[in-house]
Amino acid sequence: MADRMKSQETRRVMQSFGRCTITDDFLVTFYEFLTQSSEEIKDRFAHTDMPRQRRLLKEALIHLIAYASGNEFSRQRVTELGNSHCSVQLNVRPELYEVRVDSLVKSIRRHDAQCTPELEASWRNILAPGIAAMTALYPR
Ligand code: HEM
Repeated sequence: MADRMKSQETRRVMQSFGRCTITDDFLVTFYEFLTQSSEEIKDRFAHTDMPRQRRLLKEALIHLIAYASGNEFSRQRVTELGNSHCSVQLNVRPELYEVRVDSLVKSIRRHDAQCTPELEASWRNILAPGIAAMTALYPR
C-alpha cells in the first residue's frame, strides 16, 4: 500500500516534470532563481556553459525522481552525481541543496499550470531520498 502510494506520487511528479520541460524556460528560470539566491552560488556558475548545464540537469533530475522508486540505473547515476559534488570535487556543501530545491519549487510553481501546494510537497518528498544519497557522499 505504501509502495503504491509512493509510485503514484512519483508518477505525479514525473508528469509535472513533463509539463515543466515542454520548453527550456523552466530550467532557465530555475538557474535564475538559484544564482540570485547568493553571491557564492552565482560565482559557482560564473564560467558555466549554461545551455549544456541545463541539458545535464534535465537528465539528472529524471534520475533523482526515479531514484525514489528504487530504479537501479538511477541509483548508480545518483551515486556518480554525489561523487562529482563531493568535498574534493565540486565541493557542494549539503546545506546548498536546500536553496536548490527551493529554487526548483519556485520554478515549478511558475511553469506547471497544474501546480498545487500538495504537488510541491510531493516534489520535495520525491527528491529527498536522492538528495540524501548525494549529500551522504559529500565527506571525503
Ligand atoms: C539536486 C541536486 C543536484 C543535481 C541533480 C545536480 C546536477 C548536476 C549535473 C548533472 C552537473 C554536471 C556535472 C556532473 O554530471 O557531475 C552539475 C554540475 C555542477 N553543479 Fe550540480 N547538481 C545538484 C546540486 C548542486 C548544488 C546544490 C550546487 C551548488 C550550488 C551545484 C553546483 C554545481 C556546479 C558549480 C557544477 C559545475 C558547473 C560547471 O561545469 O561549471 N549542484 N550538477
